Amino acid sequence: MNTLTAVSDFLRRNGAREVLVLTDRNVDALYPQYLSPLAETWSCHKIVVSAGESSKSIEQATAIWEEMLDRQYDREVVVLNFGGGMICDLGGFVAATYKRGVRYVNLPTTLLAMIDAAVGGKTAVNHHYTKNCIGVFRQPDFIAPADTQFLDTLPHPELLSGFGEMLKYALISSHTFFQELEQLDRLTPGVVRKNWIDACVRFKESRVSADFEDRGARRVLNFGHTYGHAYESWCAAQGDPVPHGVAVAVGMVIECRLSAQAGILPQEELERIEQLVRRHFVMPDWNEALRNRLLPYLAQDKKVCNGAVTTIPLRHIGLIGQPRMLSLNDGMTLSSMK
Ligand SMILES: NC(=O)c1ccc[n+]([C@@H]2O[C@H](COP(=O)([O-])OP(=O)(O)OC[C@H]3O[C@@H](n4cnc5c(N)ncnc54)[C@H](O)[C@@H]3O)[C@@H](O)[C@H]2O)c1
Repeated sequence: MNTLTAVSDFLRRNGAREVLVLTDRNVDALYPQYLSPLAETWSCHKIVVSAGESSKSIEQATAIWEEMLDRQYDREVVVLNFGGGMICDLGGFVAATYKRGVRYVNLPTTLLAMIDAAVGGKTAVNHHYTKNCIGVFRQPDFIAPADTQFLDTLPHPELLSGFGEMLKYALISSHTFFQELEQLDRLTPGVVRKNWIDACVRFKESRVSADFEDRGARRVLNFGHTYGHAYESWCAAQGDPVPHGVAVAVGMVIECRLSAQAGILPQEELERIEQLVRRHFVMPDWNEALRNRLLPYLAQDKKVCNGAVTTIPLRHIGLIGQPRMLSLNDGMTLSSMK
């Protein structure tokens, strides 16, 4: 079903009257008319925030709450998040907290949001340099089916970022999916198949329904993220930020190397994974200096407990193991890795 038709159906079925559209400047400039048909039936108001992580803040959330209060929205308003993961996280947080929670819809426009951020109900804002540290779990009431035409305008680093997360889903869920990704020589918007997006969403939804609050089964979705976040934070602090999924790709390679070092992942599978990653991503050179720089960022991770970090070993391509704790020092034996 067409994306907008699906959203209209949801609004109609749920007796919506007022719709608050939240989007960012880039998406608004590229797709100013995309949601116009909704205004023929519903009372729509649009809030446009600056693009980028800096809008995922409590100050921005406050400004939106104030505008909602000024407009005297009651609990029947539906928040429609039209954008990438930043908008889904921010708008989800605002909706989950306004008057103790109003309905919200995610209509994702980046690959990363289509396969990951729009799904699963983790909403949050950042605080200073700490990502996602203030937020709540609240499922979106509807996720619009992905409209892949949005990928045509996505800058390549953002497409790559989504591809990093997509690769994660292949690695943790399906060898066949990984083999299909292995066939790609070059990543362009046109090569991204709708069934790959659907496979990621289905896998994520299965884990989320088993463990909504991320205390068990959902944790495998964090594969590559512990090390990825440390790398992402370090790059940001250097003034050279990398998109989230690109950092995840780096983090996955580290986790795969650790898995191979521990004799869990066969060496030839590690080589296939590295070959695929290197075809699309620039990998940093691991050395003692970089290890020492990343260690403080790893120590700050939400998942670090009593000096131990949670790692998620890969057993085979398409088969993830159970998370395990590794002391910070063991978990960062990167100097021994090429
Ligand atoms: N809640 C979750 O489960 C979850 C999961 C993964 C990531 N996230 C969050 O998602 C965010 C990252 O998401 P993202 O990568 O989508 O970033 P984003 O929303 O910041 O979008 C990236 C850039 O692409 C632009 N953009 C969006 N759609 C476009 C389009 N169709 N054409 C051209 N440009 C477009 C945006 O304006 C922005 O500049 C982070 O805040 C991360 O923490 C959340």
